[in-house]
Amino acid sequence: MGKSFDIGLERLTGAGVPGIGVTQDGGVPIAKNALGEKPPPQDASTAGSTFYLETFGCQMNDHDSEKVAGVLVARGYRQVDEPEAAKVILYNTCSIREKAAQKVFSRLGELRPADELHRKSFNTEDAEEERRVHGGSLPGNHPSLRKIVNAGGGKIIGVLGCVAQQEGEEIFERAPWVSLVCGSASYRKLPQLIVELEAGNRRVTGLDTDTDETFETEITRRDNPWRAYLTIIEGCDKACSYCVVPFTRGPERSRASASILEEVRQLAEAGYSEVQLLGQTVNSYADPTPISKGRNMRFSELLAAVAEVRGIRRVRFTTSHPRDFGKDIVEAIETHPTICDHVHLPVQSGSTAVLRAMARTYTREEYLEKIALMKAARRPISITTDMIVGFPGETEKDFEETLSLLDEVQYDSVFAFKYSPRPNTPSLKMADAIPEEEKGRRLAILMDRQREIQRVRNEKLVGETFEVLVDGKSRRENQWSGHTSSNRVVNFTSPEQELLGDYVQVKVSSAMPNSLVGEMVGRT
Ligand code: 5AD
Ligand code: SF4
Repeated sequence: MGKSFDIGLERLTGAGVPGIGVTQDGGVPIAKNALGEKPPPQDASTAGSTFYLETFGCQMNDHDSEKVAGVLVARGYRQVDEPEAAKVILYNTCSIREKAAQKVFSRLGELRPADELHRKSFNTEDAEEERRVHGGSLPGNHPSLRKIVNAGGGKIIGVLGCVAQQEGEEIFERAPWVSLVCGSASYRKLPQLIVELEAGNRRVTGLDTDTDETFETEITRRDNPWRAYLTIIEGCDKACSYCVVPFTRGPERSRASASILEEVRQLAEAGYSEVQLLGQTVNSYADPTPISKGRNMRFSELLAAVAEVRGIRRVRFTTSHPRDFGKDIVEAIETHPTICDHVHLPVQSGSTAVLRAMARTYTREEYLEKIALMKAARRPISITTDMIVGFPGETEKDFEETLSLLDEVQYDSVFAFKYSPRPNTPSLKMADAIPEEEKGRRLAILMDRQREIQRVRNEKLVGETFEVLVDGKSRRENQWSGHTSSNRVVNFTSPEQELLGDYVQVKVSSAMPNSLVGEMVGRT
């Protein structure tokens, strides 16, 4: 469905955060209405209207796209796989690192109308961008011409998400053939914005970030038939010095616990057995329910309440911020077997000096205290993290401290990134930038070290048996794949005819740094 692009995350995949850039293996049934409803009838104004939606970025973005698709399908639009076949072409974009933001401008370049190709405004900057993206081809023999020729007129081209929020109306300047720019907090306005365009408006925008309408009464068209994503908190009130999220997604807004629980109940009834609670800082959740109107839940209480919903077998949550991570969350995991034994706790750096420059609000030692809480838990908890190398001023000694943190914590997976300077962020102006080449060197060292840690850790699991939710079927006969509660990928053999969506027991026979291999030994 034109989603799940790898946005160039330099990462060690496997037990890490699910959903980012991970495509499903062939054969996985996709796209059913979240609540199992039939597609709504088309109204006369949108009959025959089609949309193409491509997503770049994190799983918050993937889930936002599910919401956008839900909004459009509810209005009678039909999703298509090729931009050529669509009346409305939408790119939902992440801007957390520069690469993803670049990708959307490259896509927009492909849709440049023929007359724009020869316009004078195809300036040096544009040409430079084309060279970077398309390897130096000139407009005349531009490889995307095919698309432009096929694209035909009358299409609505829109940019959604963080890049939309960040660049705002400047997108119209850079790509005048774009007619819609809409940030993540305004998706519910999308149908209205599209109506305005259909009525002849040349350009429309939805760029508010302070709305709290983000979640309620939406119809979400979920792409994964077993795992339902659910945003419980939008935006971010932290102010990490490298991060655009507070600018693009606005301040924190939490959704009322009663409304979350009602949706989880509906999801369970519709056949979902796994839910993943989402938020940039999911554990900073602050229930807005007024005391007079019901129970005001802490994040750990909400987790427990979701875990107790009948029909729900797995509860995941991401991403947790170390500052708001407490013993109560570990206790909730201990007492509720349905809460998965996996915590993604981004550290970013192992050096307190760099953490301070990043404004992360904790020291290395304080972070390690949170890790100790998890290591002391009654059942093993898989821990994964994000790290940034080459932050301005990061010395060789600081970097060594990041490496020693890997050894100390023994993560099951690490998403590692080269520092990428982002617009508006405080770190943009910091001295002592690290050269790209050096960032690359540090990243490679970090990944090698972590790969070895994962290899050793996974080898220890050989001979053990795990419950696996089957979510992939290989083209090869008898080959299946799925995830454990700890979010490890397991590839396994089974002669069964149909297993997708089932929970099965798999005995591990061999291990790799990013996945386990095994054989099905029973059902659960
Ligand atoms: N440069 C590199 N990585 C970044 N991240 C966020 N902002 C930047 C940036 N400017 C990483 C952090 C975060 C993850 C989602 O992306 O590690 O946890
Ligand atoms: Fe960005 Fe920091 Fe907020 Fe995470 S906690 S979204 S890194 S500002």
